[in-house]
Amino acid sequence: MTFSLRDLAVPILGAPMAGGPSTPALAAAVSNAGGLGFVPAGYLSAQKFADVLAATRSLTTAAIGVNLFVPQPSVATQAALDRYREQLAPLAQRYGAEPGTPRPDDDGWQAKLEVVAELTPEVASFTFGCPSPEVLGRLRERGILTAVTVTSLAEADIAVAAGADTLVVQGPEAGGHRGTFVPDRRPGEQPLAELLAAVASTHDLPVSAAGGLGDAAAVRAALDAGAVAAQAGTAFLLSDEAGTNAAHRRALVDDRFTKTIVTCAFSGRYARGLANGFTDSYDDMAPLGYPEVNQLTGPIRAAAVAAGDPHGTNLWAGTAWRGIAGGSAGDIVAALAGEVG
Ligand SMILES: Cc1cc2nc3c(=O)[nH]c(=O)nc-3n(C[C@H](O)[C@H](O)[C@H](O)COP(=O)(O)O)c2cc1C
Repeated sequence: MTFSLRDLAVPILGAPMAGGPSTPALAAAVSNAGGLGFVPAGYLSAQKFADVLAATRSLTTAAIGVNLFVPQPSVATQAALDRYREQLAPLAQRYGAEPGTPRPDDDGWQAKLEVVAELTPEVASFTFGCPSPEVLGRLRERGILTAVTVTSLAEADIAVAAGADTLVVQGPEAGGHRGTFVPDRRPGEQPLAELLAAVASTHDLPVSAAGGLGDAAAVRAALDAGAVAAQAGTAFLLSDEAGTNAAHRRALVDDRFTKTIVTCAFSGRYARGLANGFTDSYDDMAPLGYPEVNQLTGPIRAAAVAAGDPHGTNLWAGTAWRGIAGGSAGDIVAALAGEVG
């Protein structure tokens, strides 16, 4: 029988956080605490994704979710990429790195879908677009609950028409990348509460809420507004089980970082993170164009992380980052659910 989000003991989803923060231990800990942990496939090879999913499965008998990036045609132009490469050169030099080389990359979409169909996690969620009705239907036939991330009512309409079982409504408060289907414009600013109300009053399917849900009061408000569950990412970044790198961890608790910014400077797609030296210098210059911009900046970001410098890399964080704390992911799930504290 297909899993239902209403079956969860605790209505908390541990957001998929590709690029390091998510680990098998984190996803399993969220599921073992009665919520739903996610394994992100983003940036991994299909084989590595399968390995990470199997490792997570070995740590919990509870339901787990996976998350895939839906490929979109890039909006990058060669001229813009060439210019950005030149502009990045001084920063790259500072860390002894070279900007990366852009190349077409669909994040192993087809091969990862095969992994999902074969390993049948209870839930598969998608971001950056909506899979075709055929893809969603095939997974549903395998007993997998399908979830599509939406950032506007228009995207919700598309996802529902394609046959998504459930939606993750992501507000502008969210840390990390916005799931916006169309990569050539700034994502909408409609606050999560309004977006949730608009989607819930138009569509009759379960929706989860994501974006800025950093404490029990925020989670409660989302549930009261009609969400069946709250998906939190930033709240888990400092958890014991997260793979958040040391520079990112330190920045999240450093008073010198005073605000978050929505920028395409790191990846060519809009995402929210702490404002730092990188965004101060490059936010105005960066072109849109995922994955090419992500590939250009990749070696620079990796070198900055290796050097422990928070000003040369992305520090994803949602608007509720100030209130987050460390500790076990299980305790964070309980705190978000209002069971403690
Ligand atoms: C570090 C980080 C990485 C993320 N990676 C993904 C991802 O791989 N896939 C995805 O669907 N969402 C990703 N997100 C977005 C989350 O799913 C979710 O929308 C967001 O964390 C909710 O906002 P919050 O961070 O304020 O809780 C990421 C968020 C963060 C903070």
